[in-house]
Amino acid sequence: MDLDKKISIVTGAGQGIGEGIAKTLVRYGSKVLLVDQNGKSVKKVTDQINSEFVNAALSYEADLSKSDEIDKMLGYAIDQYGHIDCICNNAAASKGIGPVEDYSLDDVQNTLDLTFTSLWKCLQGEIKILKGQSRPGSIVNISSNSAIKGYAFNSIYAASKAAVNNLTQSVAKELARNGIRVNAVSPGTINTPGVRQYFKQEPKAQEMLENSSLLRRIGEPEEIGEMVAFLLSDSSSYITGQIISVDGGASIN
Ligand SMILES: NC(=O)c1ccc[n+]([C@@H]2O[C@H](COP(=O)([O-])OP(=O)(O)OC[C@H]3O[C@@H](n4cnc5c(N)ncnc54)[C@H](O)[C@@H]3O)[C@@H](O)[C@H]2O)c1
Repeated sequence: MDLDKKISIVTGAGQGIGEGIAKTLVRYGSKVLLVDQNGKSVKKVTDQINSEFVNAALSYEADLSKSDEIDKMLGYAIDQYGHIDCICNNAAASKGIGPVEDYSLDDVQNTLDLTFTSLWKCLQGEIKILKGQSRPGSIVNISSNSAIKGYAFNSIYAASKAAVNNLTQSVAKELARNGIRVNAVSPGTINTPGVRQYFKQEPKAQEMLENSSLLRRIGEPEEIGEMVAFLLSDSSSYITGQIISVDGGASIN
């Protein structure tokens, strides 16, 4: 597997899974633009990468729920690199948690905006650029196992991710003739700042979630990065429109 000479964008790369994905892509030889709304954290990750792999990474601060900021970010990528080969749409967030009957309409709308609509807006901008280039492209959307299993007390987030899965399939169908592959990676529980915080508050949840995986542990961000790197690379040239779980077997447990 090789991403040598590839130009990649990773959204939500300031921490967690996006950070792990960006670091993995660089290890496989890609130059990476790391994008996050938190300019400080994404610069920190970018500096870490560049201290090991000189000039491999650039950082860019953008709120990807806003179309104009997405357009500026993509314009920056083209200014810097001339073209884009690989994109991982990872950024997402959910608002509100609890029984479905208690969700406020604002929480529903915000979760849809941050998890589905912003990814759809990113895809719109990205596809226009990828279609205009005379080279193959690959997109990976980060979904969640909750999209295929449901998620009690986080139902709107799970439903938003189910929409991401379905959009991934539709867009794969639309873009296949343009030589652009589109897949989704569906993580199980991964060792990220949010999950670590949750385990501190709810120690029993840690044991329960570890046991929900066949491998009896949660995953590491770089383990998601490995699958994303494969799907973005030419090694996966016959794979498109797929939703692939990386979850230690939790989805079949
Ligand atoms: N952590 C898990 O166990 C887990 C499991 C399944 C799926 N996921 C999915 O993986 C992805 C990453 O999750 P994570 O746990 O690393 O999240 P995280 O909250 O730790 O990191 C997300 C990053 O995205 C950035 N971001 C969020 N919204 C943004 C926006 N509108 N514009 C720009 N940047 C934005 C945040 O600033 C943050 O740096 C998400 O799509 C999440 O739904 C996570």
